[in-house]
Amino acid sequence: MNIEIIVTSDGSHSLINKELNETYHSTHGAIQESLHVFIKNGLQFWLEQNQTKEISILEIGFGTGLNALLTLRGSLNQEARFHYTTIEAFPVAFELVDQLNYAQQLNFEMAEKYFQDIHRSEWNAQISIMPNFILEKHQGKIQAMNFPDQTFDVVFFDAFSPDKQPEMWEMPILEKIAKTMKNNSALVTYCAKGQLKRDLKSLGLKVETLAGPPGKREMVRAVKSN
Ligand SMILES: C[S@@+](CC[C@H](N)C(=O)[O-])C[C@H]1O[C@@H](n2cnc3c(N)ncnc32)[C@H](O)[C@@H]1O
Repeated sequence: MNIEIIVTSDGSHSLINKELNETYHSTHGAIQESLHVFIKNGLQFWLEQNQTKEISILEIGFGTGLNALLTLRGSLNQEARFHYTTIEAFPVAFELVDQLNYAQQLNFEMAEKYFQDIHRSEWNAQISIMPNFILEKHQGKIQAMNFPDQTFDVVFFDAFSPDKQPEMWEMPILEKIAKTMKNNSALVTYCAKGQLKRDLKSLGLKVETLAGPPGKREMVRAVKSN
């Protein structure tokens, strides 16, 4: 088996891909990282700036489903309708999913049921996990997918690191993602490499370097505005 469970510093699980020697989250804390990078600096940032009835999120790299579960939790006290689109080339086996401790760690009402629903929902379809949380999981590589221009309000760019999967961080994919972003939308990622920032700037995005989650110095948010 090439993928195994690890325990990160905040007690939450992550996975390690042994072939790439790459973890799915920061070893300093998977939940802490996701909350900081994607929820606080992505989702909450956007919701604070925009009065909205609907929010459309794109995630690159569904992986363990942690970001999806945290976003669903964030939707519970919101009136807005959440549309969560996520892409995964290599879905994690249920045998591993069933051992992940996110529902226990997050410990909100029905967390385990939501986590199971997120994982077991059909691929390539729009599924209502909650009345205001629609999940659209796409199985396949981002390289082979196309979404209409100006579709997403928030992008969680959560690919494996540039050192391990450089092609995910190169211009063809960044350009594709930037096109699908609406005006005033925000892309967030845990990576803060200079090349990434230069490339995002060259696509017309306003790039901010923010403090990273525990154990990581920096992260990036890139906002699209005319
Ligand atoms: C850093 S992990 C994602 C972590 C995930 N967001 C989570 O919360 O667990 C990167 C993910 O990207 C997926 N991936 C790798 N190559 C891909 C590709 N070409 N297109 C889409 N997903 C890809 C991997 O299988 C892995 O699940």
